[in-house]
Parts: sequence; structure tokens; C-alpha cells
Amino acid sequence: MRIREWNPATAPDREIDAWLRVFNAVLAADLPGEPLWRHDRLREYLSVAMPGERRAAWIAEVDGELVGYVGELLLGYDLSGTAVIELFTDPAHRRTGVGRELLATAAEHAAAQHRQSVTAEVVEGTPTAEFYAARGFARTVVEESSLLDLSTVDWDRIGGLAGRIGAGYHIENYPGGPPDELLASYADAKLVIRHTPVADVEWNPGFEADRLRDSLRTLRARGLRPYVAVALHTASGEVAGLTELVIPAHRPQRADQYDTIVVPAHRGYGLGLAMKARMLADLRAAEPQVREVQTWQAVEDEPMLRVNAVLGFRPDHLWCEYEAPLTSLPRNLRTA
Ligand SMILES: CC(C)(COP(=O)(O)OP(=O)(O)OC[C@H]1O[C@@H](n2cnc3c(N)ncnc32)[C@H](O)[C@@H]1OP(=O)(O)O)[C@@H](O)C(=O)NCCC(=O)NCCS
Repeated sequence: MRIREWNPATAPDREIDAWLRVFNAVLAADLPGEPLWRHDRLREYLSVAMPGERRAAWIAEVDGELVGYVGELLLGYDLSGTAVIELFTDPAHRRTGVGRELLATAAEHAAAQHRQSVTAEVVEGTPTAEFYAARGFARTVVEESSLLDLSTVDWDRIGGLAGRIGAGYHIENYPGGPPDELLASYADAKLVIRHTPVADVEWNPGFEADRLRDSLRTLRARGLRPYVAVALHTASGEVAGLTELVIPAHRPQRADQYDTIVVPAHRGYGLGLAMKARMLADLRAAEPQVREVQTWQAVEDEPMLRVNAVLGFRPDHLWCEYEAPLTSLPRNLRTA
């Protein structure tokens, strides 16, 4: 087995093809039923990073064929102690040490970049969870993903829910992201969930207006089409709530809905449900190819779980964040 650094921005097309083939084999083996990925904007998805962040990646090859991959995102600003990794081994080459070598390579690089910890997002119940547990990672955060199959939706009911909000509020949907004049207020609203974890690396970190602008630019450059629905407090013009969704070019039939936040002073007026319902109605018109919407919420977030249930979302997977400190990890990995 040979491990080499890999730059998806400049890799030949046949290597991007090989990455996609192996990744789809991993999906089929570990998460059967998940929509497979396509080529569209994949190179950009794998290589573009936010300003202040960096990506690195390595592939494992056997007889010149790609059999494993690890990507590492070196986060910036307040998360600059952390490296987030994404790792997979071709199902036909598992339990031969590929994953261990790739993880060791990424961890050594992260340590050399003065990172203190490595984190990975894992679907509970897949071999990955056992792999990380065996490597000394601890589970830190758990979120539940749920799915809404749009073919089951009663659109008249959704239209009704979208309009059912307290007097003094209205909802706007902004394809591409909120307009410039709303960014500061939007960023303030996002501060409410500063510590909301998992599944949000695409959009976070960064709540100040400039970083939001960078974040939106980065999403678009990676082939992720953003939509946001915003609840506005009509009298003050302030953002009272927001919900964010992206459609990946590499998997356009499934939309990912990230943060949904209602600022505490504006809770109890039906804004969470109305914003999500409005997003669904607008999505149906703007992106007719979308067949399902995926969302995540903390398992203890009762109000959001209820909102999702009313809209018809069904629980899908448990997503866990695994973390290990780098002080001990690189030394242990190759021998563990
Ligand atoms: C996690 C993953 C990368 C491990 O790859 P791998 O190349 O098989 O790992 P290794 O051969 O280096 O395994 C090293 C050790 O980890 C542990 N391990 C790995 N897989 C395991 C499993 N299924 N059950 C229990 N322990 C496991 C074992 O201790 C193993 O050592 P051993 O084979 O000597 O017993 C691989 O299972 C994978 O690709 N999972 C899917 C990742 C993914 O992103 N999926 C996408 C959606 S979830």
C-alpha cells in the first residue's frame, strides 16, 4: 500500500472518478439507500475552503488503484485548535490497515500544524464508530438526522402552516443568502446557537457579517446552493429567526437543512414551524428535482423535534462527533 498527498483541485479527472467510485461503494455498503453522489462540482467541493481555513488530503493506493482517502479541514479563527477529518476505505480493502495508516498520516499532519485535537463525524452503527472507538476517540456530541420524503407532503397543509405566525412578523425567503442589509442582524441571530455542533461545518463557523459573506461565497464555490428563510420582526426590521438549507450539486435530489433558530425574545409565535414550512413550499417551486430534505437536531432539542414531526420528518440516523486529543494520538496510531 502506498499513501500519497492528494490535491483534488489539480488531480487528473481519472482520480476524481476513482474517488467517486470508491465513495459511492462506501455509501452503498455502510448506508444503503443513501442517494449516490455525482460528478458535478465534486472537485470544487473537495478542494475549496473558507478564508482562514485549509484543506489537506491523502489517498491510499494498492497496485495504482485508489483504495482509501482521508481529507482534513484545518479550521480557522476560534476553532483553530481542531482538525476535522473525513476518512474512508474501499469496502473490498477493509481490515488491512488502510484506515489506520490514513488516520495516522492526517493526525501527524494536524499535530505538525499545531492542532490540539482531531474530530470526525460518524453515523452510529456503522463500522466507522468502532474504528474510532478502537483508536482512542471519545464520542462528544450526538445529533439525530431526519428525512422528509417530499412525495408524502400535503402541500395545502404546508401552505397553511407557512402562514400561521404571530401578528407583527413576516417571512422572507432568500435564494443565495440574506441580502447585505440584513447580514448584521442575521449574524446576531446566529450567535444564539454558537455552540450547536455537528453537521454544520459547511456553514459555520463565523457569525459576524464578514464571515457570513465569506461563508456564503465558499458554499457557492463548492457547488452548494444556499437558501435561507428569515422571520422578520416587522416593526424593528430585526431578524427574529432563520432557517438555512443547501442543495449540493453532487447530490441535487436531497437538500440539507442546517440551522433553524428562533431568537429567544421571539419564541412562542410559531416562527420555527412557519419558516420551515415556507422553505419547503419555496423549495418545491425553485428546485423541483429535490425529492427529500435532510435535517439534524440535538437529541435533547424537544421543540425542534416536535416541529420536524409536525412537518412529517422521520428519524433517520444518529450522527456522532468523535474526538481525540493529538497529544497522544499520532504516537499510538500506527501501533494500536
Ligand atoms: C472506518 C474505516 C475507514 C476503517 O477502515 P479500515 O481500512 O478497514 O481500517 P483498518 O484496517 O486500518 O482497521 C484498523 C483497526 O480498527 C478497528 N476496526 C476497523 N473496522 C472495524 C470494525 N468494523 N469493527 C470493529 N473494529 C474495527 C480494528 O481494531 C482494526 O484492527 P484489526 O483489523 O487488526 O482488528 C472504514 O470502515 C470505512 O471506510 N468506513 C466508512 C467511512 C465513511 O465515511 N462512510 C460514509 C458514510 S458513514
